[in-house]
Amino acid sequence: MSFRIQPPAPARPNRCQLFGPGSRPAIFEKMAASAADVINLDLEDSVAPSDKDSARANIIQAIGDIDWGKKTLSVRINGLDTPYWYRDVVDLLEQAGDRLDQIMIPKVGCAGDLYAVDALVSAIEAAKGRSKRIAFEVIIESAAGIAHVEDIAAASPRLEAMSLGAADFAASMGMATTGIGGTQENYYMLREGVKHWSDPWHWAQAAIVAACRTHGVLPVDGPFGDFSDDEGFRAQALRSATLGMVGKWAIHPKQVAIANEVFTPSESAVTEAREILAAMEDAKAKGEGATVYKGRLVDIASIKQAEVIVRQSEMIASN
Ligand code: COA
Ligand code: MG
Repeated sequence: MSFRIQPPAPARPNRCQLFGPGSRPAIFEKMAASAADVINLDLEDSVAPSDKDSARANIIQAIGDIDWGKKTLSVRINGLDTPYWYRDVVDLLEQAGDRLDQIMIPKVGCAGDLYAVDALVSAIEAAKGRSKRIAFEVIIESAAGIAHVEDIAAASPRLEAMSLGAADFAASMGMATTGIGGTQENYYMLREGVKHWSDPWHWAQAAIVAACRTHGVLPVDGPFGDFSDDEGFRAQALRSATLGMVGKWAIHPKQVAIANEVFTPSESAVTEAREILAAMEDAKAKGEGATVYKGRLVDIASIKQAEVIVRQSEMIASN
C-alpha cells in the first residue's frame, strides 16, 4: 500500500457526453437543450476534410451564441497525425469565447502528445490573456495509447477525462470486429455446446480506469454505434459502470437518458450504501472492525465502497 493518497477526480457530473458534428450547426441548440452533462462539438472524424474550415467557424460562433447552461463544453480537435489540429487549437484559443471549457484530443499515443498541445495552448492563453485555463480530455483508441495509458493519464495537469474509443482501438489492435463497441459475435467461450459471450473491451477499460484513478482523471466509456439497440447500449454502460467508469458517450440523443440513468447511483443503491455505513458506525462503537449486514460480511473496505456510491450521488445532486 502506497502512502500516497489517491487524488480525487474532478467533482463534476460526466454521465453522458453528447456528440455532434461541427458541420451540422442545426443540431447545436438541440444538444444544448439535452440532458447530457458534457457536450462534444466535433471537428474530427464526423466532419469531412472539405468541411473542416466551416465546421471550425460554426463551432466558434456557437460557443458564444448558444446558452449551454451548466454543461461542460468540449470541442474534439483533429488528431496530431493530421494537418488540421494546429489550426483547430489556434482558432479555438484565439477566437472562441470563455464559455469553452475543454478540448478533446483524439488518438493520443504517448505523453508527449499532451505536452505538445499543452505548449501550444499555454502560449496562446498567455498571448491572448485568457484567464480561464482550458482543460483537456483524451481518447485512448490505439495500441500505442493503451500501451502508454498510465503515462498519458499523468501527462498534463489540464487532463480531466479519458475515454475509450472502441472502433479506432479495434482497428489499431487488428481486432476482427466491425461494430462500434458492444458484444462481438465471435468472442465467446464454449461449454457443453453452449456459447457464453465474453467482453473484448474489458481489459482496455480496466487499464484506463486504473490509470485514471491513479492520477485523478475521470474514466469514460466511448461510443456505442448501434443507436437502435437500447438494451445493448444499457448492457455496455452497466458493464462500464461496474468497472469504475463514470459515464458514456451518446452519438444519438436517444442514448442520453439511458446513460444518465445507468451512471446515476439508484435510490436503492444509495439506501443500501447508507445502511452499510450506519451498520459500520454501530460496529465501530462496539470496538469491532467488521459486522454482518443482510447476512453478509461488511468491514472497513465496505465503508470505502459505500462512500464511493454516496459521494457520487451527492456530487450529482449538488450540480
Ligand atoms: N444531438 C442532438 N440532436 C440530434 C443529434 C445529436 N447528435 N443527432 C440527431 N439529432 C436530432 C435530429 O436533428 C432530430 O431532431 P428533430 O426530431 O427535431 O428533427 C432528432 O434528433 C432525431 O434524429 P434522427 O433522425 O434519428 O437522426 P439523424 O439521422 O438526424 O442523425 C446521426 C443520426 C447518427 C447522423 C447523428 O445523430 C449524429 O451525427 N450523431 C453524432 C455523430 C458524431 O458526432 N460522431 C462523432 C463521435 S463518434
Ligand atoms: Mg475515433
